[in-house]
Amino acid sequence: MKLVLASKNQKKLVEMNDILSHLGIEVCSEADAGVDVEVEETGSTFEENSLLKARAVMEASGLPAIADDSGLCVDCLSGAPGVYSARYGGEGLSDEDRYKILLENMRGQLTRTAKFVSVITCCFPNGDVLSARGECPGTIAYAPMGDGGFGYDPVFFVPELKKTFSQLAPEEKNAVSHRGKALESFKEKLEEYLK
Ligand code: IMP
Repeated sequence: MKLVLASKNQKKLVEMNDILSHLGIEVCSEADAGVDVEVEETGSTFEENSLLKARAVMEASGLPAIADDSGLCVDCLSGAPGVYSARYGGEGLSDEDRYKILLENMRGQLTRTAKFVSVITCCFPNGDVLSARGECPGTIAYAPMGDGGFGYDPVFFVPELKKTFSQLAPEEKNAVSHRGKALESFKEKLEEYLK
């Protein structure tokens, strides 16, 4: 079965294929499916934005489409950047710019607990929708560590592993990450759906 990923993020595509390929599912990019969809993420929750993205790509491609809406929620910032994680600090910034702004906004904060959230939604051309949520608790480091991954990975510290997401091998990150957990839960729902 082929699912089109509603995202331009190559790293998300790799993570999804790593996890779903065991089910015989191939996740392809919008480009592979011959579509290029710009979705305005107008929702105020991960669930709403995930559905908006998956539905738009399913309608454009005529194929089942999967979307991940994810973000980092920091307790001392009242849950920010949350659904605005990709746009935190303004337009046109690099991942590094954004995590540096986050560290600056947390300067002097001793309570550094946070969580990553991912909501996976899959829309089928017959109107069916499957969705799953995953969360990964952690803390925000005082300085970036490691050079793997993307986004806020260098500053997201997992206490049990004593490493940031950037310091984990891809399979180690997938085993504990918000997206890994959401995809595992999604995988179970999809298996049930396809029976
Ligand atoms: P989305 O593509 O609209 O879901 O934006 C999610 C944003 O949240 C990304 O651009 C990253 O900044 C951040 N994010 C989501 N998942 C991760 C992750 O696994 N590591 C680091 N940052 C992430």
